[in-house]
Amino acid sequence: MELARLLLIPVVWVLAAAAAARSPGCATRCGNIDVPYPFGLDPQCAIHDGFQLNCSTVGRDTKLFHGTLEVIRFSVHDGKAWLKTFISRQCYDQATSDMSYNNAWVNISNLPYVLSASDNKVIVVGCKSLAYMWSDSYIIGCKSTCDKPLKNGSSCSTGNAGCCQADLPTGVRYYQGFFNELYNTTEIWRKTPCNYVTVMESAAFSFSTAYLTSTVFYDTDDSRTPVVMEWGITRQTCEQARINKTSYACVSDHSDCVNNDAGYRCRCSDGFEGNPYTMDGCTDINECLDNVTYPCAGICKNTPGNFTCSCPRGRSMINGVCASVGLVALVICITCAYLIRERRKLHRIKQRYFRQHGGLLLFEEMKSQQGVAFKIFSEEELQQATNKFDAQQVLGHGGQGTVYKGILKSGIEIAVKRCMTIDEQQKKGFGKEMLILSQINHKNIVKLLGCCLEVEVPMLVYEFIPNGTLFDLIHRNHSQHNSLNTRLRIAYESAEALAYLHSCASPPILHGDVKSTNILLDGDYTAKVSDFGASILAPNDKSQFVTVVQGTCGYLDPEYMQTYELTDKSDVYSFGVVLLELLTRKKALNLEGPEDDRSLSMRFLYAMKENKLEDILDDEIKNNENIEYLEEIADLARQCLEMSGMNRPSMKEVADKLGRLRKIVQHPWAHENPEELDSLLGEPSMVNSTGTTGNFSIAKKAAMGLESGR
Ligand SMILES: *[C@@H]1O[C@H](CO)[C@@H](O)[C@H](O)[C@H]1NC(C)=O
Ligand SMILES: *[C@@H]1O[C@H](CO)[C@@H](O)[C@H](O)[C@H]1NC(C)=O
Ligand SMILES: *[C@@H]1O[C@H](CO)[C@@H](O)[C@H](O)[C@H]1NC(C)=O
Ligand SMILES: *[C@@H]1O[C@H](CO)[C@@H](O)[C@H](O)[C@H]1NC(C)=O
Ligand SMILES: *[C@@H]1O[C@H](CO)[C@@H](O)[C@H](O)[C@H]1NC(C)=O
Ligand SMILES: *[C@@H]1O[C@H](CO)[C@@H](O)[C@H](O)[C@H]1NC(C)=O
Ligand SMILES: *[C@@H]1O[C@H](CO)[C@@H](O)[C@H](O)[C@H]1NC(C)=O
Repeated sequence: MELARLLLIPVVWVLAAAAAARSPGCATRCGNIDVPYPFGLDPQCAIHDGFQLNCSTVGRDTKLFHGTLEVIRFSVHDGKAWLKTFISRQCYDQATSDMSYNNAWVNISNLPYVLSASDNKVIVVGCKSLAYMWSDSYIIGCKSTCDKPLKNGSSCSTGNAGCCQADLPTGVRYYQGFFNELYNTTEIWRKTPCNYVTVMESAAFSFSTAYLTSTVFYDTDDSRTPVVMEWGITRQTCEQARINKTSYACVSDHSDCVNNDAGYRCRCSDGFEGNPYTMDGCTDINECLDNVTYPCAGICKNTPGNFTCSCPRGRSMINGVCASVGLVALVICITCAYLIRERRKLHRIKQRYFRQHGGLLLFEEMKSQQGVAFKIFSEEELQQATNKFDAQQVLGHGGQGTVYKGILKSGIEIAVKRCMTIDEQQKKGFGKEMLILSQINHKNIVKLLGCCLEVEVPMLVYEFIPNGTLFDLIHRNHSQHNSLNTRLRIAYESAEALAYLHSCASPPILHGDVKSTNILLDGDYTAKVSDFGASILAPNDKSQFVTVVQGTCGYLDPEYMQTYELTDKSDVYSFGVVLLELLTRKKALNLEGPEDDRSLSMRFLYAMKENKLEDILDDEIKNNENIEYLEEIADLARQCLEMSGMNRPSMKEVADKLGRLRKIVQHPWAHENPEELDSLLGEPSMVNSTGTTGNFSIAKKAAMGLESGR
C-alpha cells in the first residue's frame, strides 16, 4: 500500500507537469498581440481545444481570431479578454424608401467566454429608437429619444439625449440585436438616418452627436465594437476542478483558484506575479524595486510574497534618526494612530453606503411606523451565516444577482441575495422599495426578513424556502406525479399573491418578472412568489416611466415591448404562460425546437385555434373526467395571453376563477347538494336561471362526468 502511494506521487506530478508545459516552439505573439498560455496558436500550445486561436493575415494586417471573433487583448491577471463584435443597425434606405435592418448576433457558447456583466453595457443610439439585446433567456433594452439637447460625451443614463444604456445580466453567452419596428427613422432620416444597438465595453464608449448624423457608428467603418469577456478554463467550479489533478489548471506554486461567471480561472497569490497556468509561473514581486507602489523609507528587504521595511542599522544613537527606544515607541504610536484612522475610515465608508442605499430613509420611516418586523443585518452577520459567501452555499443565479443559503446564529435558515452593481438612481429608491416589500405579509409571498446596507452593493435577506422552484417541480423531476389538484392549488395561490400585490398593496406593486422559476415551493408545496428584483411601484404619473425594458423570453408581455409601459396586465400575461406550463408540462421557451415551435404561448394559441388543445396537454392530467376543467383553465390562459392588455382579465379575476375551479375539482360530489354547490361557486350571479353560465355548466359537467365514470 505504502509503496503504491509513494509511486503514485511522482507519476501524478509528471502528468501535471506535462499538462502545464508549453512546448518550447510555441509562438507567444500574433502581430502585436501577446498570446499568453493557456491560449495558444497551435493545438499542442493551448491548454485544450477551446483555447486555440488563429493568427491570420487580413489585407495588410496580422489579426488574431478566436473562432470567428477578432481578439484585441488578453489579461491573465484579470481573466479577461477584449474581443470585437458586430453592432446591429436600422437605417433608412433611400433607394427603397423603407427601413433596412442589420441585426448582428453573437454566439460564444462553444468558446470559454461569457460577456462580463460588470464591464459591458447594452447601448442604444438613436433619436427614435427602442432596441433590445435578445439573449437565451433575457430581453434587455431601452428607449432612446432626442428630446433633450445633445451633448458629446453625455452619459446616456437619461435616455432622452440621443442614447440610452442598460445593465447586462451575468452569464450571457448568446444574444441578438433586435429593433422594435414601430420606432424607426422614416420621418427623420434626413437628420438621423440610423439607429444602433450594441453590447460593448462601457469604458470604451463615449457618445458623439456624429453617430446620429452619419451612418458610421463608433468611428469604425467595419461596424464592430470592443466587448469584454471573462474566461474560464472549464465551466466547473474550483472545487469541482481540483478533483482531477491531471486537468486542474492552477499548477504554479503560489497560485489560487477563482470562480467566475465563465467557470474557474487561476491567479497568482498576493505578492506574486506571472502566469499561474505554467509550472513556477508565479514569481515573487520584488517590492523593493518599486518604491512608488511599495513605499519604504528605511531598509527594504524583499521576502517571498512580501517585503519588510526596517530602520537603517549601525547608526549611532546620537546621529541616528532611528534605532532607539524612543523610536520604537514612536513607531508604535504611529502604527496605532494609523490603525485607528483606518478603522474610522472604514466606519465612515460603511455609513456612506448605508446612506446611499436609503438606509436613513428606512430608519426614519421605521421610527414612524412601529412594529415593522424588518432587520438591518450587518455585513459580518451575513458573512458568518453564509460561510463567507462560499460557492457551496449558492442556491441559484438570477438576472439581478446570486442567492446564497445561510444559517443565522439563532438557527434560522435564510436566503441572502447579493445584487449586481446598481446605479445611483436605483440606489436612492432601494431603501423605500425594501420598506414596502418588508410590510407585505402574505402567505404566498416570500418574506423579506431584512437587508444589509453597509456594503457597496446591498444584500437582501429572505426566509428560506426548502422545496425549490415551480420550474423544477414541473420540468426537472419527471418521476414526480403532480395531480391537477396540486397544480390548480399552486396556480391559485400564485394568482392570489399577484392579485394582492396589484390591488391591496399601496402603492400597487407590479412584479415584472413572473415565471415558474420565481415561484418557490414551501415544505408542504405552498406557493411563494419571489424575486422582486424587476418589480416597480406602479407609477402614479406617466413621467415616471421606466426607461429599461427587461424580462424573460417566453414570458414577456408583447404589449410591454411595444409600449414600454409595465402594467398589471403584463404580470397577467406572464402568469398566463405559467398556467400553460402547469397544463402542458412544457417549457415557456424551447430552444431546441424549430423556430416557430419555440414559444409555448404561440404553440398553445395555435393549438386552440385549430381545436387541437388535447394534443398539447400533459398526459398525466388529461383524462375524461378532467378534460372539461382543463378546457376551462386553457380558456382562462388564453384570455391572459390576449395581445391587448385591456382584454386580459385582472389578476383578481384570474385568482377568483382559479379558486372556484379548484373547489369544484376538489369536491366533485357537490352536485348532490345544490345549495352546497351554490356556496362553492361563490358568486350567486354565476348561477342564473337557465344554468348556462360558464361556471355552473362546468359544475354540472363535472357531476355528469363523475356519474358516467361510476
Ligand atoms: C484560421 O483562419 C484561416 C483563414 O481565415 C482558416 O482557413 C483556418 O481554417 C482557420 N483555422 C482555425 C483552426 O480556425
Ligand atoms: C450557439 O452555438 C452553439 C454551438 O455552436 C449551438 O449549439 C447553439 O444552438 C447556438 N445557440 C443559438 C441560440 O443559436
Ligand atoms: C461632437 O463631436 C463631433 C466630432 O467628434 C463633432 O462633429 C460635433 O460637432 C460635436 N458635437 C457637439 C454638439 O459638440
Ligand atoms: C415606422 O414607424 C411608424 C410609426 O412611428 C409606423 O407606422 C411605420 O409602419 C414604421 N415603418 C416601418 C417601415 O417599420
Ligand atoms: C482528468 O483529466 C484528464 C485530462 O483532461 C482526462 O483525460 C481524465 O479522463 C480525467 N479524469 C477523470 C477521473 O475525470
Ligand atoms: C525611489 O527610488 C529611486 C531610485 O531607486 C530614488 O531616486 C527615489 O528617491 C526613491 N523615492 C523614494 C520616495 O524613496
Ligand atoms: C506583508 O506583510 C505585512 C506586514 O507583516 C502584512 O500586513 C501583509 O498582510 C503581508 N502581505 C502578504 C501578501 O502576505
